[in-house]
Amino acid sequence: MQRVLVATSCSASDNQVRKWRIENSNEIATTGQLLRYVASQLQVDEYSLQLEWMNPKVGKYEEITSVTDTIDLNFNTGFLLVTYKLKALTEREPLFIENRLFNFQNGFDVFNSINNVTQTIYLNEVQDADKGTGLKLWDSSIILSKYFEKNLNLLQNKRILELGCGIGSLGLSLSCLGAETVMLTDLEYTMANLEHNVKLNGLNNVETALLNWAKPETYPSKDFDIIVAADVVWLESLVPSLVMCMHTLALRSPITIYLSHQTRSKYTDELLFRLLENHFYVQEVPVSSYHADYRNHKIKIFKITLK
Ligand SMILES: C[S@@+](CC[C@H](N)C(=O)[O-])C[C@H]1O[C@@H](n2cnc3c(N)ncnc32)[C@H](O)[C@@H]1O
Repeated sequence: MQRVLVATSCSASDNQVRKWRIENSNEIATTGQLLRYVASQLQVDEYSLQLEWMNPKVGKYEEITSVTDTIDLNFNTGFLLVTYKLKALTEREPLFIENRLFNFQNGFDVFNSINNVTQTIYLNEVQDADKGTGLKLWDSSIILSKYFEKNLNLLQNKRILELGCGIGSLGLSLSCLGAETVMLTDLEYTMANLEHNVKLNGLNNVETALLNWAKPETYPSKDFDIIVAADVVWLESLVPSLVMCMHTLALRSPITIYLSHQTRSKYTDELLFRLLENHFYVQEVPVSSYHADYRNHKIKIFKITLK
């Protein structure tokens, strides 16, 4: 069915009504695709655009806040009404945290409230990080570590696999917090520093392994109870192999996945959540259960289980 999209401008400098004919309605199935489409028509970047669309289900304009909402055009009479506003430069908040929140490059403490023990996780970063992102510490791994510190019961007797572990901060802290075993995995270039960090902490229930999401022959043959991953996708090209890896491992044994994620590109997120939702239930963990001192609205934790 052919559809016409009508966008009514409400920007101060441009008050015309614009109409675009969309030849293929499949092009615009989500609010993210709508945002991208209007941005390309107006030749502006999507981050400078604030869009409201007439949701036919509720009969009023709604601001687009999530890019993954489905646009149900079944109710539509052939028109989709959209209003847009170009944000002022000062309103354009960067998507991601520009500097790091936590400067813990040498290590940080975790507190095991069951054993009443504080332990330091010692870390080494590699300064020449041009080789890849896995040679330094990322904020999402701290937020997920501290989430588990507040929710220790989730780790008891659990065998953990970490994907894209980088310097190992998350998995090492989960070992200290009471996980039964931890396998830290990443690409070859991270291994020397990762093994160095494991030795620094002298933990005997942690092992390291090379695991490339795109190469199923590198997936471990062991079973796990939990997969964790922090800040692992920022480019669209990384998403399909990560989801394939999670799905393959989840089919083998019951697994809960905890992903802490910072949006770097709305396109990447749209693809990530669309592919995840093909196989998994994806629940955003309520912020109230995060550690009170380790949270930021740009980093979210998702709990993911097989459908
Ligand atoms: C931004 S870093 C995050 C590192 C760590 N999780 C943290 O939060 O500190 C992304 C990690 O994903 C890893 N990665 C990217 N593509 C990968 C792939 N195909 N297979 C395995 N790991 C991958 C990188 O090597 C890097 O360690």
